[in-house]
Amino acid sequence: MPGPVVIVGGTGGIGAALARRLVADGRAVHLVARDAGRLASLADEIGATWAAADVVDETQLAAAIAAAGDAVSGLAYCVGSIVLKPIRRVDSAALVDAYRLNVVGAVVAVREALDALRAGGGSVVLFSSIAAGHGFTNHVVIASAKGAVEALTRSLAADLSPSIRVNCIAPSLTDTPLAAALTSNDAMAKSIAALHPIPRLGQAADMAAAAAFLLGPESGWITGQILPVDGGRSTVRTKG
Ligand SMILES: NC(=O)c1ccc[n+]([C@@H]2O[C@H](COP(=O)([O-])OP(=O)(O)OC[C@H]3O[C@@H](n4cnc5c(N)ncnc54)[C@H](OP(=O)(O)O)[C@@H]3O)[C@@H](O)[C@H]2O)c1
Repeated sequence: MPGPVVIVGGTGGIGAALARRLVADGRAVHLVARDAGRLASLADEIGATWAAADVVDETQLAAAIAAAGDAVSGLAYCVGSIVLKPIRRVDSAALVDAYRLNVVGAVVAVREALDALRAGGGSVVLFSSIAAGHGFTNHVVIASAKGAVEALTRSLAADLSPSIRVNCIAPSLTDTPLAAALTSNDAMAKSIAALHPIPRLGQAADMAAAAAFLLGPESGWITGQILPVDGGRSTVRTKG
């Protein structure tokens, strides 16, 4: 069997759905996140390996990725944040934290996996957000960090071509623990769902299916791309 796909944030809504999906497709998976209990439980359930790390600690992250072995067949970075603040309340700490979690962590993860990705013929999937390409109110912090993830995707794709493909998924609001502050309010969830030409919230399985495609051989001529998985919200207007 080729090396595992490393999923950083592998116990989250999207990361766990991707892990389950890849295992169902016959691929091996190596999970990385902070909470060892949740890692062990999911790994046990699906037959994955795991290592605990906080992505803001480069030494921990390097060790957790190295634990995947000398050859990996993919890397998905599924760690992120949704920080919504009006500009008057935006401080540099929030900006730096978001950049560290969403951008620096992704760079370090890819850098530490480079040799193993080359050895395993792997590809990389990052996650931005619909907010990177569209102006939404109160999104200064997260949109600027996710915009950097999209720029990073293209730069990495150039640096790592042709041996390692690098792509990015740009989700709209997706029903996961990260989005709970927005989705747990039924009225708010319904009104956000209605903003989508396909009028529902994203599901983790929507993102997992797209990521599995980008991590697999059928996307072998796709690199440096941002794939919106957003119910059409970024490009389709059905009213007005
Ligand atoms: N859900 C949405 O609506 C939405 C929309 C746009 C973009 N996205 C993006 O999609 C990606 C996946 O999001 P999600 O909704 O699946 O998030 P999630 O459910 O909150 O999962 C996050 C995962 O990352 C891990 N994690 C968080 N902080 C970490 C840290 N400092 N070090 C190591 N691991 C950490 C969590 O486990 P531990 O807590 O145990 O570490 C968990 O496994 C993110 O990049 C997010 O920004 C999501």
